[in-house]
Amino acid sequence: MTEINSVTTLTHDGDVAVITLNSPPVNALSGNVRQGLYDGFKAAGASDAKAIVLICEGRTFIAGADISEFGAAAGTPTASLFDVQDMMENAKVPVVAAIHGTALGGGLEVALCAHYRVAVPSARLGLPEVALGLLPGAGGTQRLPRVVGVETALEMMTSGRHVPAPEAAKLGLVDELAEEGKLKEAALAFANKCVAENKPLVKISENNTKLEAARGKPEIFAAFRKANARKFRGFAAPEANIKCIEAAVNSASFDEGLKAERKLFGELMMGSQSAAQRYYFFAERQAQKIPGIADDIPLRPIKKVGVIGAGTMGGGIAMNFANVGIPVVIVEQQQAPLDKGLATIRSNYERSRTAKPEETAKRISLITGSLSMEEAFADVDLVIEAVFERMDIKKDIFTKLDAICKPGAILATNTSGLNIDEIASVTKRPQDVIGLHFFSPANVMKLLEIVRADHTADDVIMTSMKLSKQIGKIAALVGVCPGFVGNRILGQRQREAQKLVLEGAMPWDVDRVLYDFGFPMGPFAMSDLAGLDIGWVKEKSNGETIRDVLCEADRRGQKTGAGYYDYDENRNAQPSAFTEKVIHDFIVKSGANPRKIDDEEILERCIYPMINEAVKILEEGKAIRASDIDVVWVNGYGWPVYRGGPMFYGDLIGGPAVVLKKMQEFEAKMGDQFKPAALLEKLVAEGKKFSDLKG
Ligand code: 3HC
Repeated sequence: MTEINSVTTLTHDGDVAVITLNSPPVNALSGNVRQGLYDGFKAAGASDAKAIVLICEGRTFIAGADISEFGAAAGTPTASLFDVQDMMENAKVPVVAAIHGTALGGGLEVALCAHYRVAVPSARLGLPEVALGLLPGAGGTQRLPRVVGVETALEMMTSGRHVPAPEAAKLGLVDELAEEGKLKEAALAFANKCVAENKPLVKISENNTKLEAARGKPEIFAAFRKANARKFRGFAAPEANIKCIEAAVNSASFDEGLKAERKLFGELMMGSQSAAQRYYFFAERQAQKIPGIADDIPLRPIKKVGVIGAGTMGGGIAMNFANVGIPVVIVEQQQAPLDKGLATIRSNYERSRTAKPEETAKRISLITGSLSMEEAFADVDLVIEAVFERMDIKKDIFTKLDAICKPGAILATNTSGLNIDEIASVTKRPQDVIGLHFFSPANVMKLLEIVRADHTADDVIMTSMKLSKQIGKIAALVGVCPGFVGNRILGQRQREAQKLVLEGAMPWDVDRVLYDFGFPMGPFAMSDLAGLDIGWVKEKSNGETIRDVLCEADRRGQKTGAGYYDYDENRNAQPSAFTEKVIHDFIVKSGANPRKIDDEEILERCIYPMINEAVKILEEGKAIRASDIDVVWVNGYGWPVYRGGPMFYGDLIGGPAVVLKKMQEFEAKMGDQFKPAALLEKLVAEGKKFSDLKG
């Protein structure tokens, strides 16, 4: 065995040279890896090997370029990815890439420079650069459409989808599927076959057949852009990916296409969107790390889960566990709501069709119902309460759980803002009590706020964090405070949105500004969608707020055809003269003078107080680090990921000094609600950024 460098070895197996990479955790293409590959291929080429296999140790094949290198200062000069690719593609003997785990981004781009690819069925291949606000910058945009065709390349590159190996084999991306666990043997056998059969050294870059099929058909691109306009709104990267495939089709040569790719890659890399999306990639992973708790702390096994409440929330929560094979028992007080809840779960599964019918049936069978907590919860490892938001009801439930559940069971509440310490205080085991705040619809929304109460044990926190990953959620650990992190910050935006309307902006002005910023919808459109009458009681309504008056006029949102907006039969919203009059009457009654409010003020009034509140949350220790707040807002509240989150955005627009100045201005004009956080002033005094708040 020859040690090429610290992450690369070269061995020989008969006539085949085997280059093995071992750079945990994901064999990303850092400088060291590129140099190892370059030197490895050079040495293999100079040996008497008749074929070369590239294989990786650890959990995966190369998962892409090393994202942490992007935007960082250049280190010691090493071989570039292009040097490595040239060496592979122009090797004089067949090169076979042996793929397990994931071949993503630069990893797939390397594999596409091998003459052949062998993969185990569990492997996944893709070009996910778009999710980082980028495009494949090592020839992937030019090679992928040459293999899979233009339409499939458009879909794969703009979605970033990880394609399972069996599908990749059908697409021609993989030449042979190996038996699981026998990758090396299969790759060696394939390499020997190449030699024995004198198979050609296939260079993808030289095969234009699939591109020619799309030449002179701009309608392919026009139709793709049109069909995806909504999905791509606001993002720069999807369009740049499309342009690269257009360049592949229309360029006179592979090299000309590569030039277009390089140019567009450089533009994206320099832009703020990719910076935000790359930051966000690491923010999500950082959020899983809890200072003071070892990552390998022994976890509590979760083999069976209980849920209290068969409503929309309880049902959605239950589905998350059934989806990963964990049995769930739901408890309700009455048979009718229990039956209704279970029926809703069944129909959700049947409608969503995300799994094969037999898998769907299995998931449904894992969710059972009961009317008795005593019977249902004696053996559960985790119970999640998802009932009405009233402290007395929650306390009553937790008193019972304390008496029923086995020692060590985790007792969780899905409260969206009640004091969990108070809930825990009725039990004799506050160390087992935690908040698991799911977002509605709980089977769809990615965010999970995990709420640490005063006495919550470390292993309960870590078990919850790991469990969240198992059920496909993105978790952030937060502390007990009204509204926790997400809703507490949302409260600022809601308050300002309402106030702006009473000062002269129309709901559709506020909504438009926030929609253009990148949110999926503004607060008023959101209220109409959710129903204006949530929490509204007809008998107690006395026209005190705009919402009261709208509900009294039976304008309760989309479901009644009118709310803040008027809706046509297809639920298309139109500004409403009725709402405008209601607002006008309120302003007149208050004696205020409506004024013209420009878009800039609307945005600043909605966003700056959110950033200020986020800083207060950090000051109080209710979130660990600034980036956790961004994780909450991107995942749970539709903050556009290409703006990173409120904290990243705060730095992008100039940092704490800019936000402080604006808050001081607002405070002077409009009072205490805009009082800057003390920590904001401290950051400015110390010349720090929001991203310096790292916990
Ligand atoms: N660069 C640097 N670090 C990476 C990385 C990468 N490409 N991919 C993963 N990591 C790190 C993560 O930050 C994490 O580090 P941590 O343990 O310190 O938090 C560790 O590897 C493990 O990652 P995950 O927690 O995400 O592990 P999973 O097993 O859940 O997922 C994965 C593995 C599917 C490979 C996932 O990490 C992933 O999607 N990675 C990114 C893949 C990607 O986007 N590749 C394209 C990069 S851009 C590119 O190649 C440009 C080229 O065209 C020139």
